[in-house]
Order: sequence, then structure tokens, then C-alpha cells
Amino acid sequence: MKNNNAKLRKIPFFVPNIDNSDKKAVLESLNQPILTNGPNLQKFEKVFAKFTGAKYAIGVTNATAALILSLNTLGLKKNDEVIVPDETFVATANAVLLNGAIPVLADIEDVGYNVSVESIEKSITKKTKAIMPVHIAGKACDIIKIRKLARDHDLKIIEDCAHAIGTKINGKHVGTFGELGCFSFYPTKNMTTIEGGMIITNSKKLATKITTYRNHGFIASKKFNSKPWSYDVELPGYNFRLDEIRSALGINQLKRIKKLNILRKKACQYYNLKLKSIDGIDTPILSKFNDDVNHLYMIRIKKEYGITRDELFRKFMKSNIQTSLHYTPLHEFTLFKKSAKKYVSLKNSKKLYNELISLPMYPYISKKEQNTVINCLISNSVKNKVNHEK
Ligand SMILES: Cc1ncc(COP(=O)(O)O)c(C=O)c1O
Repeated sequence: MKNNNAKLRKIPFFVPNIDNSDKKAVLESLNQPILTNGPNLQKFEKVFAKFTGAKYAIGVTNATAALILSLNTLGLKKNDEVIVPDETFVATANAVLLNGAIPVLADIEDVGYNVSVESIEKSITKKTKAIMPVHIAGKACDIIKIRKLARDHDLKIIEDCAHAIGTKINGKHVGTFGELGCFSFYPTKNMTTIEGGMIITNSKKLATKITTYRNHGFIASKKFNSKPWSYDVELPGYNFRLDEIRSALGINQLKRIKKLNILRKKACQYYNLKLKSIDGIDTPILSKFNDDVNHLYMIRIKKEYGITRDELFRKFMKSNIQTSLHYTPLHEFTLFKKSAKKYVSLKNSKKLYNELISLPMYPYISKKEQNTVINCLISNSVKNKVNHEK
């Protein structure tokens, strides 16, 4: 659920990291003559491509636009199917519908909460055109197996990397395993441009197509060669351009993404250390290396904890601690009840949705703030195995 709650909490779910150098970069960009589609955007795309190891990066207004444009390159038709995880943010599946195709919901894994490869395999039909895996909470899904499956069935992969800025598998950044990778710079994401997104690809053809449709479908037309000011439009495009102010912020934020990711990991490690001995709480498995980044800190509340996840959510609210749920499964929404297909049982996403809760986690969360959250969890548990420090 997106955080639209303007009310200040004792412990907010997220605090973005905007420092003085970000403010300086934004102010400088406001003094430039070009305010959109200019040199900052070009530079941001260049440094983001370098950061991910992709040949091309195309900046867009947000990750939703990135997903819509990426699917647009596939030329989907009515009745074409695209497989998406049942547990994801609605934008992943909305982008399929907005491209005129049908989202097919796949189940998630019991641990890690990424899409289940087995479930994807069972969902493939003659109508399937693409798979959209999501790297949930910054943990890479089994994209290597998914890629093999896609190659075997001649399917395209569009990776939803909204949570995964910095996530790698054996040194290779996610988003470069499939044809296209889509990133979000929404304020809660691992770096922010406030609103903003990026598409990465190694295909020049796809990059050119996306750049064209990001900007109304404008192309330099051969028939107007003698008139350099002329352009043509062959198909309808969008205005999904990223402006110069956001691009300047993005360039500056990217300079400290490694540090921000390490701080998030440290906060998650501290939670894991303190919560591991509470009965009925499953904490996330954190990679020792810096391969997986941590976008969310999701824990699972099981029967042995003593109260349900819903009851715990209310207890947190009463204590003025803001938590969040990721995500209401797509099959629960009126829209997807009507428009999505499912060929498999969604038993894990149904069960886990009632057990998962995301705790406050951000780069500069203090130990004191974390202890307040931890103490709330301890005081509401039926029993805990050891005494925890206050
Ligand atoms: C998994 C996932 N995909 C896509 C999006 C859409 O991102 P944006 O807000 O940049 O459009 C989000 C945003 O929360 C997300 O979490």
C-alpha cells in the first residue's frame, strides 16, 4: 500500500533520505535553460546504465510508465496473456491490461515471497507472450530458471525491478536477465527522484522504440530529410519524459546508493537479531553479501505468536507506529477478479497475505526507533524465549 498518510507518526513507515547535496543539485537544475528532456536526463541515463551494466537506460516519469512502455514494445493483442505474480503492486498487472492483454496470476513461494517458478510453468499456454517477474523487497527471484523457461517457450521477460536498485546475481544486475528491466524512484524506494522511473535493456532496437514512445511517438522522418525541423509520427506515443529536476536528483542520489543500501541492510540485520527469538515470527533471510538489497522488511506472523497479523497491525497503530502490508493479492481486487486469469492455485499468496507485515525501515532509522518497534512486538507476543534488551 502506498504511503499517502500525511499524519506524522512516532515511528513513520519510511523517511526518505534527502541531503544538502540533493537540494543543491535540484536548485542548480532550476537555473538551467532546459527543464525537461535535456542534458541531466541524458547523464542520469548514462550513469544508471553504467550502474546496472546495461547498454541502454531510458528515464521515464515513474515505474508504471516504464512497465506500460516496456509491454508496448511487445505489440500485445487482445487475448494475449502475460504472467504476473499474484503478490505484487497493482501497477505490474495494470500495465498488462492497459496494453490490451490479459494478466495471468501466478502463485508465490512460501519463503522469500517471490513468484514461484513452478507456478509460472503451469500457467504457460499457447496464448502466453511474456512473463513479468518481480524482485520482491529487493530479493532476486529465481530469474535464471525463469529465463530458461522463457527461452524454452519463446516468451519475453520484463523484470519489475521497482524494489531492486542494486540487486545482483553473481555480479549481474537484475533487469538485465530479461529483455527489459523497470525501476521505480518513488520516495520509499532505495533511491528517489520523488516520482521517476527507468527502463534498462541491452537491445538497441527496444531502446529506440521506447525512447520514441516516451515522447509522443516523434521520429525523424526520411521523407522530410531536407527539412531538419520536421518530424513524423507513425504510431501514438505518450508523454512519459523525466524532467531535468528529477534527473539531477537521481544523478546525485545514485552517487550514494551503495551507502543507502548498506544502511538499510544494517537496519534489517538488527531487526533479525532481535526478533529471531520471538516465537511465531519468521524473519527474512538476509544475504551476507551485498547482492540482495533490502527494500522492505517483511516479517511473517504465525499462530505461535499469539495474536493475528491483523490484531498486531492495530496494536502498532495504537502505539503510533506505522507499518504496511505488501500486498493485497491481485486476485482480491474487483478489477482482477473480472479481468485476470489463473491456471494455478494461489494458496501461498492467499495464506501469506494474512501473515505478512512490513515494519518501519529506512536508511537512517535509529536503534532507538527500531527498539520501540521491537518492544511492541515483544510485548504483544505470547511468549519470547529470551529477555530482550530494552
Ligand atoms: C513492484 C512495483 N512495481 C511497480 C511499481 C510502480 O512504481 P511507480 O510508483 O514508480 O509507478 C511499484 C511502486 O510501488 C512497485 O512496488
